[in-house]
Amino acid sequence: MQTKNEQGFFAIGIYRHKTEHNIGTLWRSAYVLGSSYIFTVGKKYKKQTSDVVRTWSRIPLFYYPEMEDLLQNIPYDCRIVGIEIDDNAVPLAEFEHPLRAIYLLGSEDFGLPPAVKEKCHFLVRLPGNSSLNVAVTGGIVLHDRITKIPIDLPPNHKE
Ligand SMILES: C[S@@+](CC[C@H](N)C(=O)[O-])C[C@H]1O[C@@H](n2cnc3c(N)ncnc32)[C@H](O)[C@@H]1O
Repeated sequence: MQTKNEQGFFAIGIYRHKTEHNIGTLWRSAYVLGSSYIFTVGKKYKKQTSDVVRTWSRIPLFYYPEMEDLLQNIPYDCRIVGIEIDDNAVPLAEFEHPLRAIYLLGSEDFGLPPAVKEKCHFLVRLPGNSSLNVAVTGGIVLHDRITKIPIDLPPNHKE
């Protein structure tokens, strides 16, 4: 008999991040909001105090040197969702999240390059006339996902 997992799973990561503090904040949201794993592309993560739950000690943190490495290691039947301000992006409010999704944010300086956006299965944008902080963006996207596809969240993090 086949079992059905309607919650799916998701991961979130960033392409060539700049500000480590931001990423610590993003990891904290990722863990609290139920991410299965986190990752960086093009630059390794250095431990940050802003990640107060030490997310890397609770869920896997992967590093992919290039976008190609991320593509080669996508879990089976999983979709990459690029988060970017782009004319072809779907507004987040209208977006139907894939059950198995990898959310990819762009760097603070230059966002997701065109070649990376081309590799994403979907592009999603948030409202607003200018760009938001990258960690804030990630938190909003994950909140939208778990509102639309409710999941069992991780327990309180007591050290
Ligand atoms: C600070 S923004 C990059 C801005 C960059 N200077 C530019 O103009 O392309 C960093 C990342 O946050 C995310 N982001 C920020 N605001 C967004 C929005 N309104 N919609 C979708 N993604 C957003 C994207 O992933 C973006 O690559």
